[in-house]
Amino acid sequence: MTPHRTQPPPPPQAFSPEERAAMRRALALARRGLGRTSPNPVVGAVILDRGGREAGHGWHQQAGGAHAEIHALRAAGPRAAGGTAVVTLEPCSRQGRTGPCTRALLQAGIRHVVYAVADPTLAGEGAERLREAGLDVRAGLLAERAAEDNHAWLTAALHHRPHVTLKLATTLDGRIAARDGTSRWITGPPARRDTHLLRTRVDAVAVGSATVLADDPRLTARDPAGRTRRRQPVRIVFDRRLRTPPTCRLATDTAAPTWIVTTHAPPRRAPRTAPGACELITTEAGPGFLPAALTELHRRGIRSLLVEGGATLAGALLADHLVDRLVWYSAPRLLGADGAPAVRGLDVPTCAQAPGFRVVGARRIGEDVRVVLEPQPKESP
Ligand SMILES: NC(=O)c1ccc[n+]([C@@H]2O[C@H](COP(=O)([O-])OP(=O)(O)OC[C@H]3O[C@@H](n4cnc5c(N)ncnc54)[C@H](OP(=O)(O)O)[C@@H]3O)[C@@H](O)[C@H]2O)c1
Repeated sequence: MTPHRTQPPPPPQAFSPEERAAMRRALALARRGLGRTSPNPVVGAVILDRGGREAGHGWHQQAGGAHAEIHALRAAGPRAAGGTAVVTLEPCSRQGRTGPCTRALLQAGIRHVVYAVADPTLAGEGAERLREAGLDVRAGLLAERAAEDNHAWLTAALHHRPHVTLKLATTLDGRIAARDGTSRWITGPPARRDTHLLRTRVDAVAVGSATVLADDPRLTARDPAGRTRRRQPVRIVFDRRLRTPPTCRLATDTAAPTWIVTTHAPPRRAPRTAPGACELITTEAGPGFLPAALTELHRRGIRSLLVEGGATLAGALLADHLVDRLVWYSAPRLLGADGAPAVRGLDVPTCAQAPGFRVVGARRIGEDVRVVLEPQPKESP
């Protein structure tokens, strides 16, 4: 039976070949900002003159700097009048650190605006302002690609918490350590190098306190030669009981800031650290700990978080539906039933209740396979 329509379908948006080409260019420009703009999104913009020729382009280069539209308008100069702005994200309408882009577009005499995805923080206000001023505004061109480049930022904007990627490196039978506790190395060097690249693309990297106690990790992003990279994520330990030893590397080196998220932290128990290297964040105890911790991290500017284990923290995040993306390195070996599992504490009584995932990408890395997955939304009964 055909479902009864309560509303007519939205009219198809028409985009010219010039606008399509400009959006592809704007997306490529936006990608130049990847890893540099947080807590802001990556954005690219192209200005077309009245005749549909490119008059200027720009991209958001760093937080606090000019927005993509402003760079593009400056480059276009008077040729922007009567032209089209093609932008990967809905133009902002609020006075942030750099002033509203909607005003700049109007002042430059732009007549048409085409954008790829809406900015959830604006609730439609950017497009509305431009339409009210009489501009032709169309949305949705190459939206899927634009959303993918900003997927972490968009998730953070929607949920007011960082986008969470859980990294798992396991054997074929889902183990992360052998019976004797040895876990070096499950995956090969190319997969481990890939993890270091993941670290360069997020605002913060996190582990549970037991991983700090067991492995004393550095959690820095290092290049293939082992040198610490210039851009380092904040290092975070989820440690309700404050067991992080004052002598551990996260608390004593100054390669990157370390934040310890805890539930109660008398200052005298804070780890002794190099000045400024380690900060305590006290948040809600009980079942609300992880959601409250993530909200606090968002408030402090963290938009993307890579969680690297261990199994207990992974299970707690999955149980709370706080994992947005899973990066799973599968190594072609077996550790048997006595090996340590990758995820602990998930209560799955029957197959029908097993959390499901959708594969969004898979490729071979050296001898291992990297699979990227996203949680499958629960089907309504
Ligand atoms: N092969 C790999 O890729 C890999 C990666 C990471 C770790 N590992 C291994 O995994 C082992 C550690 O894993 P693990 O499962 O024992 O520990 P874990 O997940 O690293 O840390 C567990 C601790 O996290 C704290 N925690 C904070 N928030 C929590 C929450 N909401 N729910 C539950 N716990 C929370 C708890 O301590 P509080 O109660 O004090 O908060 C808990 O004891 C180590 O042997 C390490 O070598 C392997």
